[in-house]
Amino acid sequence: MNFYICEICGDAYIGTEKPSDCPFCGAKGNFIKPASESQPIINIKEKISELSKKNLMETLDLETRASAIYTCMAGKAEEYKIQKMYKRLAKVELEHAIIVTKLLSIAMPQINPESCSDQDEDNFQKTIELEDHATQLYKKFAGVAAEEHIRKFFGALIQVEQGHVELMKGIM
Ligand SMILES: [Fe+2]
Ligand SMILES: [Fe+2]
Repeated sequence: MNFYICEICGDAYIGTEKPSDCPFCGAKGNFIKPASESQPIINIKEKISELSKKNLMETLDLETRASAIYTCMAGKAEEYKIQKMYKRLAKVELEHAIIVTKLLSIAMPQINPESCSDQDEDNFQKTIELEDHATQLYKKFAGVAAEEHIRKFFGALIQVEQGHVELMKGIM
């Protein structure tokens, strides 16, 4: 058995092989390192600029809302596999929100329930819109971040959210 730590979420993975993507935050495998070599971004105590703070707060809002929306969608889905997929998406987005609270050393805000459609097709479409929007926003945030670890965070999230779009397109 081996022990790995994701440099994006800081969570540990125990297994015989390194996973292709982080099972917690979804970051690509290149961010997952043997525990002794891993340098998680949440442990970097570099001062964060006001601009990056503002962009991280917007990210926190987006991720907590996405998580609540996916929880709603999981509840509406009739098919077991669709319920499970949305539950996983809700957890991944919540994990992204948790990373932001750690980067900013702030408490997790209260997450309010969100509404969604009764129809899977509407929800799939909405999911793609949400993920595309997040991807565009994070590209912008990565481009203006002065801090290397914040650029790394947004860079990892761009890949995760794009992966969600591909997942949705694959099941539609
Ligand atoms: Fe991770
Ligand atoms: Fe996310």
